[in-house]
Amino acid sequence: MRTAIPLLGLLLSIPSLAQQHDPAMQQQHMEATKQAQQPSGDGRQLVKFPEHMKEHTLANMRDHLLALQEIQAALAASDYDRAADVAETRLGMTALKAHGAHESSKFMPKGMQDAGTAMHRGASRFSTIAKDAAVTGEIRPAVGALADVMGACVSCHTGYRLQ
Ligand code: HEC
Repeated sequence: MRTAIPLLGLLLSIPSLAQQHDPAMQQQHMEATKQAQQPSGDGRQLVKFPEHMKEHTLANMRDHLLALQEIQAALAASDYDRAADVAETRLGMTALKAHGAHESSKFMPKGMQDAGTAMHRGASRFSTIAKDAAVTGEIRPAVGALADVMGACVSCHTGYRLQ
């Protein structure tokens, strides 16, 4: 797992940068914080999911993290098509349909739904930008778009937890 340590570094450093530079993300974060009227002791809003849905969601979350790691490994190997494919199928608008997110979104407060939408849209956007990188060889826009995706993870995790 040679990629584990750089990934951790990225997880720690990039989301805060993304939030600084992306006003939409910052707005979302503020909204999530505002909606946290039922604090769980650490300020996050508790959201109640049916038990089976909670388990499914957390398993899905672990796959989100794995997908980020696979995307980074693909970027490092200049395998942009693979990075694009993982992002679209596991995090993007395609994943939204595959994972039954429509079902669980019924149980989410608005700010949480918005963070989910931002993640799916952001991942599909990353996918397009990563495909461009295959042509231009310019990796930085893709890295920036990936930071936006991670900003959506951070934004939702900051505002909400499952009961
Ligand atoms: C729409 C909200 C939302 C988005 C977007 C989101 N998560 Fe989560 N995630 C949650 C919630 C809620 C939990 C449960 C936290 C708790 O109850 O303490 C969670 C938990 C997790 C966990 C822990 C899983 C476990 O087994 O306990 C991981 C890992 C995770 N998320 C990764 C990610 C990654 C990576 C992304 C972005 C690619 C992401 N999540 C995007 C809401 C979200």
